[in-house]
Amino acid sequence: MGYVLGIDLGTSSLKGIVMNQQGGVVAEASSAYEIDSRAPGFSEQHPEYWKDACEEVLTRLSREVPSFGAELEAISFSGQMHSLVVLDEAFRPVYPAILWNDVRTTRQCQEITERFGKQILEITKNRVLEGFTLPKILWLQENEADIWNKVRHIMLPKDYLAFVLTGELHTDFSDAAGTLLFDVRKADWSDEICDEFGIDQGLLPPISSSFGQVGTVKESYRILFDFKHAVKVYAGGADNACAAFGAGLVNEEDALVSMGTSGVFSSFEQGISNYQGKLHFFNHVLPEVNYSMGVTLAAGNSLNWFKKAFGNEMTFDEMLRDMNTVAPGSEGLLFTPYIMGERTPYFDSEVRGSFIGIDAHHEMKHFARAVLEGITFSLRDSQILMEEVKNKRFKRIISIGGGAKNLDWMQIQADIFNAKIVRLEMEQGPGVGACMIAAVGCGWFESPEACREMFVHYKEGEIAPIAKNVERYLQLYKIYCEVYPATKELSRALLDRK
Ligand code: XUL
Repeated sequence: MGYVLGIDLGTSSLKGIVMNQQGGVVAEASSAYEIDSRAPGFSEQHPEYWKDACEEVLTRLSREVPSFGAELEAISFSGQMHSLVVLDEAFRPVYPAILWNDVRTTRQCQEITERFGKQILEITKNRVLEGFTLPKILWLQENEADIWNKVRHIMLPKDYLAFVLTGELHTDFSDAAGTLLFDVRKADWSDEICDEFGIDQGLLPPISSSFGQVGTVKESYRILFDFKHAVKVYAGGADNACAAFGAGLVNEEDALVSMGTSGVFSSFEQGISNYQGKLHFFNHVLPEVNYSMGVTLAAGNSLNWFKKAFGNEMTFDEMLRDMNTVAPGSEGLLFTPYIMGERTPYFDSEVRGSFIGIDAHHEMKHFARAVLEGITFSLRDSQILMEEVKNKRFKRIISIGGGAKNLDWMQIQADIFNAKIVRLEMEQGPGVGACMIAAVGCGWFESPEACREMFVHYKEGEIAPIAKNVERYLQLYKIYCEVYPATKELSRALLDRK
């Protein structure tokens, strides 16, 4: 017997999950923290929040699981991507972490794009976006010169936790790939980008495989949590890559749809693909392979917003209960989920959502169905890009998050994506991917594939597309695509009036 611990450093909380060698969950614990927003567009967290949350989670797990200290062999991480962490020469954070959803860097993004955008796309396979790390570094250089002068180490959130636990500085390929400083072709920090933007490569951590060992847990923590062994710590990966590994996204015929606050459509990539920045393209946690992904900014968020605005005291179940009595297309009602702007495929922060075709006979059930259909259409946009650019045809789509909790929504996904939909037997988020990295790293399995076979299982009863619904949604998707060009200027005009 032995345990591994996966730590998922998310945006709203840190979750720890303890798993055994059979892939069973032994225990879980989480600790929430705030996002600080001291100015419009700012989204920050002090790295100390994560350290405190990690210590709290370890304390709770060691209390709840009597054998935790004796059995824990290895730890790894899944982390929120892109967020900038900066330390001084004494390894102290000198500024709050600027998070992936912080949008203060629009000007820096324009500057980078004008000066070096083409080269960045060629080197990193990604376009310049506010969320990514490089524009945040430039913002710090320009707006907080005193702070920037003190910076001796740049890293990503999960790497800070690994540093806290081991005293070692490291990152992994999947997280490095989201910085806009990483050269995908040579799998290392980019000399050209670092030179162009005055970033000394000595500030950046060494990059290892996700399964690479960073170190062992420090003596102080070993004593505090009564670890009997020298617990090994492995680099881990970006949350989207860990979610993909933990859900078994390991071949080109599958895709992954994750409905969280935002929605993600991702696919496995054997080689380097050139989506010309229309999709994100990052290294997987698996060696020498990648994944592409498109993001809709408000998936679960659209549903939450709708319930809050119109659902009165209803629960989600009540709100969605009757939507299966409405035919595909919601009897002429169409929703675009751009309530916070849209990332893929439009990269437009100013467009806003709409209901088109509201008729006097429409009730809650029509609106609820239209919201789910609109969210799913917005991820169909990413699927289409993958099909068009790479000629992909997905045989199966693994659905995780909110979209896997409702059978009617799963049918909508099967019909809109025109593919079989499966869901996981046990869904615990990207922390499972982190456990699997620790399990492979410490030698429980001879390959990631062997670990996947033991840890990842799908529920019986996949949902197949229904031909006549597929036909109907094909027609409706064409109309959906016309809504963006028809409403983007209207959205801008309305924003201007504020
Ligand atoms: C991906 C992205 C988010 C964060 C959330 O590009 O910005 O999914 O990884 O943690």
